[in-house]
Amino acid sequence: MNDALKALFDVADSAAKQAYAPYSKFSVGAAIRTPSGGIISGCNVENAAYPAGTCAEAGAIAAMVAAGETRITEIAIVGLKSNPCYPCGACRQRIFEFSDAATRVHLRDGANGEAITHTIDALLPHAFGPRDLA
Ligand code: THU
Repeated sequence: MNDALKALFDVADSAAKQAYAPYSKFSVGAAIRTPSGGIISGCNVENAAYPAGTCAEAGAIAAMVAAGETRITEIAIVGLKSNPCYPCGACRQRIFEFSDAATRVHLRDGANGEAITHTIDALLPHAFGPRDLA
């Protein structure tokens, strides 16, 4: 893994450690690199009313948009308990909204710590997206 990707995973790890997951005890962190080179992170935030909880990717994307950025160059996702931690279906859709063909989604292999990298198209084929509404 190159240094830039390792740095992205380090930020995702730090975010996962901040997760609020008292119900599932399944902490997740996500770190997005944007075209400007900045890194923005998020963690899952659960709620006693379970459906009100939010995923790490959703938190990272909300923070990215609040920071004035709307493109994802790459995103790293880590679980503290289980890796690889693949993004849920709703988060694949959320990532797709801000992606292009070059966007990469990185997961960590729990066995050897190496990165597993996918395009968002591979994770969400035949997606419905902004272009369908144009
Ligand atoms: N979770 C995420 O944060 N991202 C994913 O892509 C998978 C699931 C969280 C949601 C919930 O707080 C916990 O993991 C267990 O599902």
